[in-house]
Amino acid sequence: VSIGLDLGTSGLKVIAVTAQGERVAEASANYPLLTPKPGWTEQNPQDWVEATRKALSELALALRGRYEPVALGLSGQMHGATFLDAQGQVIRPAPLWNDQRTGEACAEIERAIPRGELIQRTGNPAVTGFQLPKLVWLRRAEPEHFARVAQVLLPKDYLGFALTGHMATEPSDASGVGALNLAARAWDHDILSALDLRAGMFPEVLPSHAVSGRLSPEWAKATGLPEGLPVVAGAGDNAGAAIGLGLSQTRPGLGSLSLGTSGVLFVPLETPTPEPEGRIHLFCHADGGYHLLGVTLAAAGSLQWYRDKLAPGVPFDELMGEAEAVSVGSDGLVFMPYLAGERSPYLDPDLRGSWLGLSLAHGRGHLTRSLLEGVALSLRDVLEVMRPLVRLERLLAIGGGARSELWLSIVASALRLPLARTEIEEGPARGAAVLGLVGAGVYASVAEALEATAPQQTELQHHRLEMETVYARYKQGFAAVTLFKD
Ligand code: XUL
Repeated sequence: VSIGLDLGTSGLKVIAVTAQGERVAEASANYPLLTPKPGWTEQNPQDWVEATRKALSELALALRGRYEPVALGLSGQMHGATFLDAQGQVIRPAPLWNDQRTGEACAEIERAIPRGELIQRTGNPAVTGFQLPKLVWLRRAEPEHFARVAQVLLPKDYLGFALTGHMATEPSDASGVGALNLAARAWDHDILSALDLRAGMFPEVLPSHAVSGRLSPEWAKATGLPEGLPVVAGAGDNAGAAIGLGLSQTRPGLGSLSLGTSGVLFVPLETPTPEPEGRIHLFCHADGGYHLLGVTLAAAGSLQWYRDKLAPGVPFDELMGEAEAVSVGSDGLVFMPYLAGERSPYLDPDLRGSWLGLSLAHGRGHLTRSLLEGVALSLRDVLEVMRPLVRLERLLAIGGGARSELWLSIVASALRLPLARTEIEEGPARGAAVLGLVGAGVYASVAEALEATAPQQTELQHHRLEMETVYARYKQGFAAVTLFKD
């Protein structure tokens, strides 16, 4: 079996997967999220290490005598910054992907490298959550810490270092730093020198399926896993989840849509073609290709907020039943889901949500249905920006929101794309394990591993509802909400 590890934001998960992609064991452990100031999110890398020790020990116990691990693949939350001194010691807690402290640092980066050039080279403008702005922030805000920085590692790469003693990264996660030249899949020295940063601060970039080190004797002893077990570089969580679902440039036309707290559209791409204004992310994929990533911040998060605040205790099934009884377009009621600002395609943290067009004729069913429609149409906005860049024929629907048939039919109709479902629930850990199988030599390439492990798809929803006029109304609504920014 191959072990896949996912270093998430609320906790860590490890699973063991056979060469055919069957999951045979799993374990998990949690750690706290620190919010020392408004807009700041941090974690203690030592907490990740403790959780890893706990989860891997439990997994090793479950495998003992039944399965022999051949590799351990890494994946996890992207963009975070683990600052290390020359002795490899952590200097301060790591700011995470959803940290908002770097607005000024992003402006500083775009003063040094014009936005258009940054997008052409790295696929993206300077984005608050990315790693590079965190380093630039540190230099201004905590110069005494910056002076000690010898290396900066992404979260899962720090774990790789802890497990093996070797520092390395791979393109899917490294492209979320904000300084990787996408075409070369290597650090962009022009960008780093324009910012007066040493390229040596960043680790070597290996292919995602490459062995980046071997499990140290101390870790073997602490967990019960074999000493010298190959540790495979792996993938950022989005690319990792995609590998687990079998999404690759070698299987074109297939993307994924996750209806979790946020809504995420992932589409593989052969060449690094950025959206000219950087309104959706372009990152390296873990299969040697690239992918687009569009994020609607409040997807199932909007529904959760609505239920908690306006219909506490009412079961989701009941709300969905009421929404189903309302006709397409919610009798003119429009919901804009920008409760937390918006990432794609507006990149505007100050946008705010709204219900527009309320009347005495509207009831709770209308509120619910318009919310489901509004989230679907915000995803349509993302898709409109993606469409000129990539061919897309079908989406695999995943995440909690994908359990609702009603919501899926609304989303399929808003996007005018067929949706399919899979039985797979393991997310990024599964992709990490699949990359581990390649690193261990069980498969000769990522494409071959995907052939053997890609999950079955069940055809699900076709675009049956007529939502074009509803979309036109949503676009009018957008013009209105831009007047009410934070
Ligand atoms: C991607 C992103 C998130 C994190 C969360 O750009 O910010 O998906 O990787 O885990």
